[in-house]
Amino acid sequence: MNRPIAIDLYCGEGGASMGYHRAGFHVIGVDLHPQPRYPFTFHQGDALTLLPDLVRQYRPAAVAASPTCQTRARVTSWRGKRENHPDLLTPTLDALDRLGLPYVVENVPEAAWDGTMRPDYLLCGTQFGLNVRRHRVFQRGHWAGYELLPPCRCYRNPTLLAFEHKGERAFTDALGCHWMTNLGGRQAIPPACTEHIGRQLLVAVTAGRAAA
Ligand SMILES: C[S@@+](CC[C@H](N)C(=O)[O-])C[C@H]1O[C@@H](n2cnc3c(N)ncnc32)[C@H](O)[C@@H]1O
Repeated sequence: MNRPIAIDLYCGEGGASMGYHRAGFHVIGVDLHPQPRYPFTFHQGDALTLLPDLVRQYRPAAVAASPTCQTRARVTSWRGKRENHPDLLTPTLDALDRLGLPYVVENVPEAAWDGTMRPDYLLCGTQFGLNVRRHRVFQRGHWAGYELLPPCRCYRNPTLLAFEHKGERAFTDALGCHWMTNLGGRQAIPPACTEHIGRQLLVAVTAGRAAA
């Protein structure tokens, strides 16, 4: 089958990539670090440095990105880790806005609270029947989609779901990331979230309706 190509920047061990793959894309991943567990074609290097060459090489229909979130996430800020991490989100959004291809950028909800990102989607594992609280925001660029899911019930009510095994095997498995290490699972987006967005993205790119 001739699948449209999606480049997934900051792919890690491939949680987001797996969702785009299930939605129908041929996914190419990019990460700064080696990712032996990554299940698709992989390029190692700095995402924004490699992007122009990868676009020339693969002629992707879309680009996805999940830059590191330590500059914003509360979970890392209280550990005093913010200073050690560059802000990759802002330059990634700028680069993808300039590139002009349909894109999806993901980050922690704090990135929407501080105005860096538009929360076109706020998704949680529980909306897909997963027994995990993992809230992430996603911004669309250069295409039109929609949000059909009702908001998750646990966002403002953490006690609704006690199961939160970050860093444990059970947490990674509950995300739906059985092929990953526990470390990969800590950082991963549930594939169900990007499959949901990817299905909309696939319709947009195959119908040629992606608005510039
Ligand atoms: C939030 S994690 C990605 C999680 C992944 N999307 C998933 O769903 O499994 C961010 C990733 O960015 C990678 N990274 C950090 N700096 C990078 C850079 N400059 N270029 C490419 N990847 C980078 C890290 O190695 C890490 O794997």
